[in-house]
Amino acid sequence: MTSSALRGTPLIERYREFLPMTDDTPVISMGEGATQLVRLDKLSECLELDVHVKLERLNPTGSIKDRGMCFAMSKAVEQGATAVICASTGNTSAAAAAYAARAGLTCAVIIPGGKIALGKLAQALIYGAKVLAVDGNFDDALRIVRELSENHPIALVNSLNPFRLEGQKTAAFEVCDALGDAPDVLCIPVGTAGNIAADGMGFGEYREAGRSSRLPRMMGFQAEGSAPLVRGEVVTSPETIATAIRIGNPVRGEQAMAAMTDSGGGVDSVTDEEILAAYRMLASSEGVFCEPSSASSVAGLIKAHAAGRFTTGERVVCVLTGNGLKDPDTAIAQSGGVIEIPADYDAAEKALYGD
Ligand code: F0G
Repeated sequence: MTSSALRGTPLIERYREFLPMTDDTPVISMGEGATQLVRLDKLSECLELDVHVKLERLNPTGSIKDRGMCFAMSKAVEQGATAVICASTGNTSAAAAAYAARAGLTCAVIIPGGKIALGKLAQALIYGAKVLAVDGNFDDALRIVRELSENHPIALVNSLNPFRLEGQKTAAFEVCDALGDAPDVLCIPVGTAGNIAADGMGFGEYREAGRSSRLPRMMGFQAEGSAPLVRGEVVTSPETIATAIRIGNPVRGEQAMAAMTDSGGGVDSVTDEEILAAYRMLASSEGVFCEPSSASSVAGLIKAHAAGRFTTGERVVCVLTGNGLKDPDTAIAQSGGVIEIPADYDAAEKALYGD
């Protein structure tokens, strides 16, 4: 079946047998998952690898977060919740707000003030969430959200919520289904480390069920200024242009480290310069526009390749977690400027072809 045909079946129905669904679990869905894998021909040739990207921007709110959110929201409704809350660097808030709107729940989100991409903020607001911006970072926001959810009848839908991981692991299933087996290597950005932990679960469960024959080496990449797992300690003031992964205390860190090391992969960091170089290259050379955080998976692949961590011909999947359109400011800042001309033919010809 094609991706678009698959998208007609709710994600959590498609993988029902792998999820803790009950007869009472409603299916809150709007066509998430079934995202396309696209081969990067130029990069594959350049690195002598078989490189694919998984385009998670094709999810309803434009990021990978919809996978976990559709299931977390379905379970929240099953458990009788009327309100949900999350801390977010942007994408989770967009997903929570959208799925809450669809399910008829109220939604509150707490974001790091001034540090989320414009498109994500616009999404949370228009979907009707109550948006609080803290004078602090994601880790501060999460601390507050955890306390609020303990003191009030409001369901936490961050990746601390186990149902988020259950939904997110479907990305691993889809990679195996699309390729016929698990790839040699999976590269993915790491923030809270929920995604990579979920992928570890997904690849493991699929192999156990005989749906794939092996586990990929899982390589996670943090931004250098926000790399607690690489440094082995909490980063109190995380910094990076990749605001989605500007996180100093990953709540799923332990589980993620186990998944990465057990699989023969590992965690590393990439600089903002490396992230932006990959971000520009993906758009201008491969026609793939993702957000900066997502490009850290490809930046990491390039770095790991230079360090000799691949065998020629290996199949690699990089997860491009979010849509480039969410962060127009970075795209414009990273591009050549607009050339302004008067409204006449000669000026246009001169600008394009010179005198
Ligand atoms: N890529 C994007 C685009 C993200 O938004 C995130 C996380 C990640 C990668 C990392 O995933 O946290 O599971 O390790 N965004 C969260 C949010 C933190 O609030 O939207 P992770």
